[in-house]
Amino acid sequence: MIQTVGIIGAGTMGNGIAQVCAAAGLSVVMVDISDAAVNRGLSTVGGSLERLVKKEKMTAADREATLKRITGTTDRAKLSDCDLVIEAATENEELKVKILKDLCATLSPRTLVATNTSSISITKLAAATDRPDRFIGMHFFNPVPVMALLELIRGLQTSDDTHAKALDFAKRVGKVAITAKNSPGFAVNRILCPMINEAIFALQEGIATAEEIDAGMKLGCNHPIGPLALADLVGLDTML
Ligand code: CAA
Repeated sequence: MIQTVGIIGAGTMGNGIAQVCAAAGLSVVMVDISDAAVNRGLSTVGGSLERLVKKEKMTAADREATLKRITGTTDRAKLSDCDLVIEAATENEELKVKILKDLCATLSPRTLVATNTSSISITKLAAATDRPDRFIGMHFFNPVPVMALLELIRGLQTSDDTHAKALDFAKRVGKVAITAKNSPGFAVNRILCPMINEAIFALQEGIATAEEIDAGMKLGCNHPIGPLALADLVGLDTML
């Protein structure tokens, strides 16, 4: 059973994952490369929990207890005894391979490792680790505290036991899991990214203004935000 979760990266995805894990009662170690990045991540979680307190969805005492369950650090060695470590660093294959290689050298052999990549092959990343059978894709969605989905992606080597533990973990942190094959864009981005690209092409061709394209998809298709606003939310660098 997963009780302690390590997270590599305190950015948008990392701090969101830290928040949902801690709110679900898990102990979290959130690592980034500088104190400034760690503190930014912790302060984002603090602000996000405060919003829940203001809306009376969480008590002030629960906010404090949730924050206490998150340790922010620049010392990756503190992850060594976690039950699960989720890599949520920048979306860059070379960087992720390096992080995973370095990480595995310091981890207990029983630790499961996951990546929050939205596009890089899970089979390829698994091969960079010393535990490809205990490695899985855990694709969270932005903003993590709000989006209900956790897309699990099995690499060729991912064991049934690892998949079962990931399904349990999803339930524990209040997410609904779907499982996709390791294929470009997995299930969700394979569909979402071409739609966002089409919105960008429509803008480029002058079919309509950005505001009209977004309003069209919101009002005509009931999307919560338009595809161009969504590209900004995800980050144009990540989209690229
Ligand atoms: N933390 C906690 N709660 C948050 C939050 C955050 N960061 N951001 C918004 N919320 C909550 C608000 O408190 C609010 O809660 P209530 O309904 O209880 O009042 C609710 O979410 C709605 O927020 P707002 O009223 O501020 O604004 P909104 O109605 O415009 O919603 C949104 C904002 C939730 C982002 C909404 O526009 C939305 O769902 N957009 C689509 C998001 C989406 O598609 N995400 C997936 C991106 S793709 C991805 O992540 C994967 C990838 O690999 C590319």
